[in-house]
Amino acid sequence: MATDKVIGIDLGTTNSCVAIVENGVPTVIPNRGGYKTTPSMVAVTEAGKRLVGHIAKRQAITNAENTVYAAKRLIGRKWHSPQVRNAIATSSYRTVEGPHNDVRIVLRDKEYSVPEISAMVLQEMRVIAEDYLGAPVGKAVITVPAYFNDNQRQATRDAGEIAGLDIIRIINEPTAAALSYGFGRNLEKTVAVYDFGGGTFDISILEIGQNGVFRVIATAGDTFLGGEDVDARLIDWLVQEFKREHDIDLRQDRMALQRLKDAAEKAKCELSSVRETEVNLPFIISSERNEALHLQKPISRALLEQLSLDLIERTIDICRQTLEDAELEKRDVEEVLLVGGMTRMPRIQQAVGEFFEREPSKGVHPDESVALGAAIQGYALVGEEHEMVLLDVTPHALGIVTQGGYFEELIPQNTTVPTHRQKIFTTSRENQTAVKILVMQGEHERADQNELLGEFILTGLRRAPKGEVEIEVTFEINADGIVSVRAKDLDTGLEQSIQVTASSGLTRDEISSMMHEAKDQLVDRRSSEELEAAKQEAERLVGEIERLFPQVEQIVAQSDFGREAIDKARVIVDRAKNAVTRKDVAMIKEQIEGLARTQRMFKGVVAKTI
Ligand SMILES: Nc1ncnc2c1ncn2[C@@H]1O[C@H](COP(=O)(O)OP(=O)(O)OP(=O)(O)O)[C@@H](O)[C@H]1O
Ligand SMILES: [Mg+2]
Repeated sequence: MATDKVIGIDLGTTNSCVAIVENGVPTVIPNRGGYKTTPSMVAVTEAGKRLVGHIAKRQAITNAENTVYAAKRLIGRKWHSPQVRNAIATSSYRTVEGPHNDVRIVLRDKEYSVPEISAMVLQEMRVIAEDYLGAPVGKAVITVPAYFNDNQRQATRDAGEIAGLDIIRIINEPTAAALSYGFGRNLEKTVAVYDFGGGTFDISILEIGQNGVFRVIATAGDTFLGGEDVDARLIDWLVQEFKREHDIDLRQDRMALQRLKDAAEKAKCELSSVRETEVNLPFIISSERNEALHLQKPISRALLEQLSLDLIERTIDICRQTLEDAELEKRDVEEVLLVGGMTRMPRIQQAVGEFFEREPSKGVHPDESVALGAAIQGYALVGEEHEMVLLDVTPHALGIVTQGGYFEELIPQNTTVPTHRQKIFTTSRENQTAVKILVMQGEHERADQNELLGEFILTGLRRAPKGEVEIEVTFEINADGIVSVRAKDLDTGLEQSIQVTASSGLTRDEISSMMHEAKDQLVDRRSSEELEAAKQEAERLVGEIERLFPQVEQIVAQSDFGREAIDKARVIVDRAKNAVTRKDVAMIKEQIEGLARTQRMFKGVVAKTI
C-alpha cells in the first residue's frame, strides 16, 4: 500500500536530495550507494538504457553527447532567450527548438522536453525514498529557486506530474532551508538565507516568529548564476591557455570538453580547502601531426578568485538590493545562513561576512537543508504538524502590457502569497467580442524586457453597440507562486472563458503521454532490477550446489534414496539455468525455493561426514 507520507525533494541543478519526516524528525534519505545527494544527471546508453544519478555521471566522459547535466538551467525557458543561448553554447549534449518555443534535448535521436528530463531525476528520488520506506510514495513537496518565474514553476510542476508524483506544494529553496533551521526551535529571529548552488543564486530575508511562523520579508536572486558559471570561467581560462600553447581549440572536441568540465569543477572544489592544485589531463587531444597532447596546469586559489570575483560581486549587489526592499538595516539581520555547495568557497564566505558585518552561521547543512525543509513543509501540510505557518512572497511583479508597450504592475514584487488583484477592462469598440490580455512578470517598465507568461484572450463577449462591456479580470498567485487568470462580465455576472496561448509550457496531452512513458520506464526498470536480483540469487545457489556436487555424489550415491536426491537436484539446477537463460523472473523465483532446499541438504550431507 502507498504510504501517505510526503517526501521533500530538492531538485538541484547539480545535485538532488530527498528527505522525509519520520516520528517528528526530518531525515535525509541516502541513495543505494549511501550518498545523501544524487547528481541531477541523465543519460541514455548505446543500448537505449536510461541512467540517472551517479551511474549517469560516471559514464559522462565516454558518452558526453548523450548525457544531460544542469537541465534546470533550461527548464521553463524559451529557446531564443539569452540564457538558453548561453547554456547550450557550452553543453556537450544536443538541443533543438521545441514546438512551444521551448527547448528539447536530443538523446540517441529521441527528443525530450526539459520537464521530462527533470522527471527522470524526480523519479529517481522517488525510487530512493520508496526503497527506504518499503512502500510506494505518492505525495511530494518540491523546491524551486525563490527567483523562479511562473513559467519555470509551471514546468517544474509538469516534471513532477510526469514523474507520477502528486506535488502538494512547491516551495522556495531558501525558505525551505530556513524551515529546516527553525523547525521545532521556537526561535524569534530575523535571518538571511544566502543560497549559492550549481545553477542559481537566491537571497531571502525572513522573520521567524513565535509559534512557528516563518514570514519571508523580501527575496531576490539570479536564476542563471551558479557554480556552473564559476566552472565556465575556469574552463575558458584553460582553453585559452591551451590555445596559446598549442594553437588548438579544445572546445571542438566534446569528450575533451567534458573532461575539462569535470577537471575544472574538481579543481574549484579542491581550492576551497587547499591554496594550490593542478589540472592534469593526459592525452586530451591529438595535434595535427597526430601526437598526443596533454593539459597540465597549476591553479591557485588566488587565480580562481580573480576569475570569479565579478560573479561573487553580483550576488552581493543582489543582497544589498534585497535588504533595501525589506526595509532593513544590516544590523537587523541576526543570523546569516549559508546554503548551496558554492558557499564552501572561502572567498564567498568572506564576502558574505563582510557585507552583513557578521560571521555567517554554519547552522544549516549546505547540501541537505533544502530537502529537509521541503519534507517539513510536507509534514505540516498533511496535518501532522500544526504549529507551523509559512508565508512566502512572490519574487516578481505581475502585470499586463498596456498601450505603447508599457508594463502595468498589478501585484508588486515581494507581496505575500497567495494573493489576488482585480482589474476592470472595458471594451472600447462597437460589438467587440474579444479582448486580448498579455500577462507578464518582471521588474522592468518596458514590457518587452519582462517575461511573457501568456496571452489570455477573453472571448464570446456580449455585443454592445457602443462597446463598454465591463469585464472584471482576477489575477491570482497561489501558494506555489503559480499564476492564474479568471474573468467575469460585471453586468451579467457570467464567467468568461479564457484561452491561453503563447505559453512555452507543455499541453495536457503531452504531459499525459510523457507520464505514461515515464511510468512504463519505471515498470521496465523495476522488473529488470527484480530480474537481476533473482538471477544473482539463482546463480549463487547453482554455483554452491555445483561446487558441492562431486562430494555429495560420492557420499550418497550408494543408496537409491541418495541417487534419487541427486537426480532431483540435477533437474532443479537445470530448470533454474533454463529460467535464467529465458530471463523469466517468475520461473527463476519458482526455482529459487528448490535450489535453496537442495543447497541446504547438500551442505548438511557434507557437514555430517566431516
Ligand atoms: N568544496 C566546494 N568548493 C566549491 N564549490 C563547491 C564545493 N562543493 C561543491 N561545490 C559546488 O557547488 C555546486 C553545487 O551546489 P549544490 O549542490 O548546492 O547545487 P544545486 O542545489 O544542485 O543547484 P541549485 O540550487 O543552483 O539548483 C557545484 O557547482 C559544485 O561544484
Ligand atoms: Mg540548491
